[in-house]
Amino acid sequence: MNILEKISSAILAQDWENPLLSFGPYQIIEKKGDGGQAQVFRIQHPIGKSFALKLYHPVPEETVTAAENAENFTREVGLLAKINHKNIVAIKTAGSASFNAQESKWSIVEGLSPDAHSLSDAFLFYVMDYVPLRASDVFPIAKKRFDSTKETPIHADFCERKVEIFERLIRHICDAIIHCHTQSKPLAHKDIKADNILFRGEDSNFVLADFGFARHPGKRRSRRTHRPCERARSPRARRCPLGS
Ligand SMILES: Nc1ncnc2c1ncn2[C@@H]1O[C@H](COP(=O)(O)OP(=O)(O)O)[C@@H](O)[C@H]1O
Ligand SMILES: [Mg+2]
Repeated sequence: MNILEKISSAILAQDWENPLLSFGPYQIIEKKGDGGQAQVFRIQHPIGKSFALKLYHPVPEETVTAAENAENFTREVGLLAKINHKNIVAIKTAGSASFNAQESKWSIVEGLSPDAHSLSDAFLFYVMDYVPLRASDVFPIAKKRFDSTKETPIHADFCERKVEIFERLIRHICDAIIHCHTQSKPLAHKDIKADNILFRGEDSNFVLADFGFARHPGKRRSRRTHRPCERARSPRARRCPLGS
């Protein structure tokens, strides 16, 4: 079992004393996303506030070296660090971490050093604001407002609510994209999809996350900057430099 699997099983077993779940000052509480090499966890600071931790293990893949993977993650951190917008997830800190089995604790170094990936057991991480819901979770919530026991056959209230929420989503994500595109060095997110759109209930804002494939157009792309859906796009669409 690798470390990420061990963390997941400690969470499942609610083994809160397990040192793997003590990440610096934070307690790892719950897994929110699993992208293979990277996983996202809800973590809690002792003051009681939740944050999200993206923990990434850069290993070589078929066409990419561990160094290239680490460089991509570091780029994601650097891009997020420069952006401040209510509809874009806010990064708090980043660094590298490895679990010291002898001392039974995480060794964490904040800041990203270019050779962090060279330690075979090193993880790269960043901590960001915790945004509890995904866009896809929000629509079932709207649906619950329709009370099927009532006689009203066509639940206008529910339909209106759904349209209103969807309009809000489009407005907020367009605001986020415009903010990226109008930076002094324009930035294309390049991976807009439901999984990367979160919803912050406290101020009802949709929030764009996952800048792993974001790029400043014009820069030469590495081999791994195309996601499968992007490869399938028409050549015309691919020529659009700010295509998201
Ligand atoms: N700030 C956050 N707060 C809460 N959950 C998050 C946050 N960021 C990501 N997630 C969850 O983790 C999943 C994966 O995160 P993401 O950054 O998209 O990683 P990947 O590169 O693996 O797609 C998201 O789909 C979402 O469910
Ligand atoms: Mg994602």
